[in-house]
Amino acid sequence: MRTQWFGTRAPSRAVAHCAVGMGVLPVVFAAAVLPAAAADTRSPGNPPVQAQEDQSYGQAKKNGLRTVVPDDFYIGTAAAGGGHHLNAGYPDPFTYDKTYRKILSAEFNSVSPENQMKWDFIHPEPGVYNFGPADAIVDFAEANGQAVRGHTLLWHSQLAPWVTQGDYTDAELRQILKDHIQTVVGHYKGRIQQWDVANEIFSDPWNGPIALRQENPFIQRLGPGIIADAFHWAHEADPEAKLFLNDYAVEDMGGKSDYYYELAKQLLADGVPLHGFAFQAHLDLQYPFPSTLDDNMKRFEELGLETAITELDVRFTLPESGVPTAEQLAEQADTYQGVLEACLSVEDCNSFTIWGFNDKYSWVPGFFPSQGAATVMFEDYERKPAYYALRETLAQASQD
Ligand code: XIL
Repeated sequence: MRTQWFGTRAPSRAVAHCAVGMGVLPVVFAAAVLPAAAADTRSPGNPPVQAQEDQSYGQAKKNGLRTVVPDDFYIGTAAAGGGHHLNAGYPDPFTYDKTYRKILSAEFNSVSPENQMKWDFIHPEPGVYNFGPADAIVDFAEANGQAVRGHTLLWHSQLAPWVTQGDYTDAELRQILKDHIQTVVGHYKGRIQQWDVANEIFSDPWNGPIALRQENPFIQRLGPGIIADAFHWAHEADPEAKLFLNDYAVEDMGGKSDYYYELAKQLLADGVPLHGFAFQAHLDLQYPFPSTLDDNMKRFEELGLETAITELDVRFTLPESGVPTAEQLAEQADTYQGVLEACLSVEDCNSFTIWGFNDKYSWVPGFFPSQGAATVMFEDYERKPAYYALRETLAQASQD
């Protein structure tokens, strides 16, 4: 039985959301054009935003998630920047938001670049590599005793236009991928704990029969053998890094995860340097909890693979007020806790990453209309029940 986390916080203190265009975007985007007094939509009695942030950092240093983490376990987050942040109307969070950086360093002992190592960001033109922003994350992580998960190499999305729109022969396309993987992985050699080598390479179960994803131009043009090649190239460039398959909608047994299970068996039988299978875990409260997650992890581990949770967030449809209810927050906490417990219950799941830690920077409202509040902290870094659920579960695991 998982603990219910109703917490002590009145949900009315959440920052309200307003609808902007297609999706629902945090009201903070509007704050830039409103007078300061009008921008703070929180209830009377809240501390001013700066005071709340200072308090959050103080708390993080004293009793943040990483302070209670079991030995050899990594509690991570995406480091916010690039992607949807580019159009969000605030400066790059990882680069410029000092409070964000401080809390990131105090709460977590692992980080994943949210977008900064993706192809369109790091390799925007042929032969042009933009390593600066990802270097900054890796340097920051090392300075703060944090591991780094590399994300990602072979993916159909956020590819640079020169790759998708170029007129290449198959041999040229293969060489382009090889150069990319070896240059990026080689650049960070010895500094990346785990790489998501292949991301989302199977199609969605709700779009018909599951198959290798044909939107991936490398798979579509070069065939399934390119998956093994990608792992071999990454391994040559950094023999120490653990190399992973990574996807969403694979948490429960059956469906897409069965296809990964068969693929993993085949890759291992062929001597491919595959070291792990990762569950993104972008969950939504309108669907049941993935109750077979622990068994699913176990079967991958029985193949000799590590497992990891790499992008956990738990979204839900916000009430019209934009303010989550106490029940929603409790259910969300329960879900975070359940996923962490599954990871802790197996031998080789040592890396547990949430996809951002405060609602202000979450990708969810921009991608899932009417949904939000998916992370463990409100926009002002005040901790939600989900935060406490994670911390208590980690603390308990440290004692056991
Ligand atoms: C998301 C980022 O969070 C956004 O900033 C970006 O605009 C789109 O991509 N699966 C993945 C992640 O593997 O890289 C995605 O990240 C979320 C889904």
